[in-house]
Amino acid sequence: MAEIICVIGNKGGTGKTTLSHMLCQGLGLLGHRSACVLTDVSREPLSPDGRRYITADARTRDALTKVVDKLRTLDDWIGVIDGGGNRTEMDRKLYALSDIVLLPFRESHEDIRTVVRDLEMFPRAYAVPSQWPSNAWQRDAADRNVAQLMGAYRHRILNPVGALSASKLLLQKQVPEQLPTPLANACRAFGRQVLEVLEIDVADIGETHGLTIGSDERLSSAEMPLRLNPTSRRPH
Ligand SMILES: Nc1ncnc2c1ncn2[C@@H]1O[C@H](COP(=O)(O)OP(=O)(O)OP(=O)(O)O)[C@@H](O)[C@H]1O
Ligand SMILES: [Mg+2]
Repeated sequence: MAEIICVIGNKGGTGKTTLSHMLCQGLGLLGHRSACVLTDVSREPLSPDGRRYITADARTRDALTKVVDKLRTLDDWIGVIDGGGNRTEMDRKLYALSDIVLLPFRESHEDIRTVVRDLEMFPRAYAVPSQWPSNAWQRDAADRNVAQLMGAYRHRILNPVGALSASKLLLQKQVPEQLPTPLANACRAFGRQVLEVLEIDVADIGETHGLTIGSDERLSSAEMPLRLNPTSRRPH
């Protein structure tokens, strides 16, 4: 049975679509098969050519049911559903059918207030700091805001995904043959975190892309200090 992850949240523009594609690309680079599932009626489907994952169009209710039913029959696949912003009803539906839930948020107080409400509404969800500043001073300030305003949820916050202008490439209809290394690395790092949350052994996946993923690539608790509440996963 495939694992289903949905990327939702009651706010637009937080990075749901970008993170969904980065996650799928990262999983692909780590040797896992995944499908990025589009539910947002305001977006066009993207070609799977050149990606490390397949894309699925589930912009109607029927199509979503079909895609999810199909994924459920596939062993060792991971389905990543990109929700749209400001669609509480849809978010609840996606939450109900997902194994884990990701809630991207940016460093603004407004995003943080919204993600705190969403974390309360969705007890199985993890917050993902998105478009996080790379400048040390700004990053420090953003981290401090999170510690102050989200302290109660710190075990449900994943490591930040940094601001990377190259992330736009994954949202192009057709991706370039070669993606920039910083983007590939960010995708892999995010993929690894999510595999850890899913309790899928990163060390087991063998060779990908000429690189052996060894046990030394597992995240240390120092690298991933804010995880993990095992009860946040839905039992199968
Ligand atoms: N990690 C990132 N680095 C740089 N820019 C980013 C990153 N993530 C998202 N963006 C940019 O932020 C904007 C919003 O991102 P995206 O479309 O992924 O958000 P969304 O949550 O899916 O929005 P919507 O609610 O409209 O569906 C886009 O212009 C995107 O390129
Ligand atoms: Mg989107």
